[in-house]
Amino acid sequence: MSHFASIAGVPGDPILGLMDAYRADPNPAKLDLGVGVYKDAQGLTPIPWAVKLAEQRLVEDETSKSYIGGHGDALFCSHLSQLVLGADNPLLHQQRAAASQTPGGTGALRLAAEFVAHCLPGRGIWLSDPTWPIHESIFAAAGLRVGHYPYVGADNRLDVEAMIAALQQIPLGDVVLLHACCHNPTGFDLAPRDWKRVLEVVKARELLPLIDFAYQGFGDGLEQDAWAVRLFAAELPELLITSSCSKNFGLYRERTGALLACAANSQKLADVRSQLAALARNLWSTPPAHGAAVVATILADAELRLRWSHELDTMRQRIASLRTGLVEALRPYDLAERFAHIGVQRGMFSYTGLSPQQVQRLRDEFSVYMVGSGRANIAGVDAERLDDLALAFAQLCTRR
Ligand code: LMR
Repeated sequence: MSHFASIAGVPGDPILGLMDAYRADPNPAKLDLGVGVYKDAQGLTPIPWAVKLAEQRLVEDETSKSYIGGHGDALFCSHLSQLVLGADNPLLHQQRAAASQTPGGTGALRLAAEFVAHCLPGRGIWLSDPTWPIHESIFAAAGLRVGHYPYVGADNRLDVEAMIAALQQIPLGDVVLLHACCHNPTGFDLAPRDWKRVLEVVKARELLPLIDFAYQGFGDGLEQDAWAVRLFAAELPELLITSSCSKNFGLYRERTGALLACAANSQKLADVRSQLAALARNLWSTPPAHGAAVVATILADAELRLRWSHELDTMRQRIASLRTGLVEALRPYDLAERFAHIGVQRGMFSYTGLSPQQVQRLRDEFSVYMVGSGRANIAGVDAERLDDLALAFAQLCTRR
């Protein structure tokens, strides 16, 4: 008898699968605008110098590889909480907010999903349409009822009115997932006035916000990007935030992130955290140590921290100049207006407005790889190749 005979294959991951397809493409002119990793002018995903220096220190100073606790590295959790919420946030002093270390931001999302499923049974979760495809599968895998609110309309514009109208219909007490900045996949972010409107609906419907904060520092800056998170933390008694160090510290494969919980008082926070530790024990037992130790070393050291924040500024500025550069490169084809949104969007990603068929043609005819939804990782473009990319877009838009 074959135990595996009835097992069917499933399609590969819509994002990670692109990495394999890109690697296998022999065309030397290929362009990888798929998976969300930052690339520098040399086309490399660099390890920031601050990370390298912190790693050197760790090699010298680390004394043990014994397990870290269920919430992970305490120094990391403390510094990351300050980075997200602000060093002087009263919630931290009142012990009403704390972080639990997780394997990346994805681990934090899964932990949040398990927390809702186990501790808040019956609550559904509401995701933006569109959202990061893995949001859909993570919450479904935890058994949650998944619903959607509109975010970007058919005309590829942020539709705040439709979003607010849909949020007003969400069942009382459900969970709503919001992207703090650098919305994945669209790159369209809410303005402060929009966030205030969302907050009013969250209060009126008594929703529990789960804020996905995977790109702190990639939008407008470390502090600016945290504005909405801090607004919600100040205005609401309870909140969940997922934070990732993959992009802003360049620690992708080290799987470094955290789930932050904010509660009405310190006792309730302790109760919530006891549940999180128990759930994490069944998922990954204790989180991986290295990336968190690197982040803690950087954030605890004024010099390393300054170096890191400058390196992050460089990454953000490069993406911003690639965005404007691409729009300018499209101007000779009379396409600058049509793709002006690329200059307005924030973070790595742009919802280009290209159709799945056009994305397929980009891949087949020009070896340009992007996600089928039309999402392009603008950070993947080489500045020298903006003209090539613009030409490919132009050929798609003018040829049938
Ligand atoms: C992305 O959206 O490309 C990144 O967040 C990487 C991933 O894990 O999907």
